[in-house]
Amino acid sequence: MNRNDLLKSFKEQFGYEGERVFFSPGRINLIGEHTDYNGGKVFPCAITMGTYGVVKKRADKEVHAFSGNFPDVGPIMFDIDYLAFRKEDNWTNYVKGMMKYIQEQTKELTHGFDLYIYGTIPNGASLSSSASLELLTGVMVRDLFDLSISQLDLVKLGMRTENDFLGLNSGILDQFAIGMAKKGNALLLDTNTLDYEQIPLNLPEHKIVIMNSMTRRELVDSEYNTRRRQCEEALEELKTVVDVSSLGELTEEEFEKYKHVISDEVLLRRARHAVYESARTERAAEALKANDLETFGKYMNDSHVSLHEDYEVTVKETDLLPHLAWKQEGTIGARMTGGGFGGCCIAIVENDKVDAFIDEVGGAFEKEIGHKAEFYIAETEDGTKEWVAHD
Ligand code: GLA
Repeated sequence: MNRNDLLKSFKEQFGYEGERVFFSPGRINLIGEHTDYNGGKVFPCAITMGTYGVVKKRADKEVHAFSGNFPDVGPIMFDIDYLAFRKEDNWTNYVKGMMKYIQEQTKELTHGFDLYIYGTIPNGASLSSSASLELLTGVMVRDLFDLSISQLDLVKLGMRTENDFLGLNSGILDQFAIGMAKKGNALLLDTNTLDYEQIPLNLPEHKIVIMNSMTRRELVDSEYNTRRRQCEEALEELKTVVDVSSLGELTEEEFEKYKHVISDEVLLRRARHAVYESARTERAAEALKANDLETFGKYMNDSHVSLHEDYEVTVKETDLLPHLAWKQEGTIGARMTGGGFGGCCIAIVENDKVDAFIDEVGGAFEKEIGHKAEFYIAETEDGTKEWVAHD
């Protein structure tokens, strides 16, 4: 993305020069899925696909926001004194949610701003375009108004925006990855304590291939909230025999010892996924640290199987992609990534096998499903920050 092009688009839209440019990445989760609202481990990294924002303060209290991705929607306007969810305000609800909670915390938003947005993350692709926009808004507003609010607080307000403003009971994975990431690293996060460790993602001989099934999913309308509730129900039953406050605190052995109290077979499978996936994530991160990519890949595959069988958050398309990937020479591991119910999968593939991989997997996918998948090579990126020009 070219900085001058972004500034030019701002000028075309608002008729005067924009001032500051910000960038917020998307994320892939390498492993540790549906563990974040269960107090378990996650292991994501931020990617170079993301959301750009050009902004300039206004003298009044209005926000005028325009997205280069939805030119037909036109500019959306709202007042910083009325930050309520309105369906017709479309994508700006993410901006409004963040502003509402920042305002609640700081009471220091005194002016509105003009905002031009352009995103390179496909929507509904499970690469966190929404958390990317939330953190973009947070960092931008903080820097624009010189607020003393930490990056971690913005991460938490991003999750609150999802939970309370948009009605998705998600965990903190996406916002944390996007807010706290470091280029060249993946981040092992304990969602119970928020302790985390940056682990170098050194893959000189491999690429991480993102496979987009092009089946859109909106988690709010999916069974995402149901999954969370099922885990909570299983936890309640477990609490009658063991002293824990989240599934993520249980070892696999403890789970096996106490699982008999879970009365329902579906709840048992949901809880089993959460417990085993969290343990797997920790081990996978250890394997990566030890440069044992082979083992890391096996954990990725196991994670996918568990998400398919126990957690049931795959669809035909996102189950097919890893199955096709596993058959390709030079594939270390593959799995769905993100919330599920459509969206993207990832695979780790040897450098010189990537072209053949994309040909083969892409061809077989289209033959079976009837539409094309898209493929991108993931590159890691820093967390959300201002894009300062170097002149
Ligand atoms: C979505 C949610 C995250 C997390 C993942 C599944 O991306 O926003 O909080 O639960 O699904 O791991």
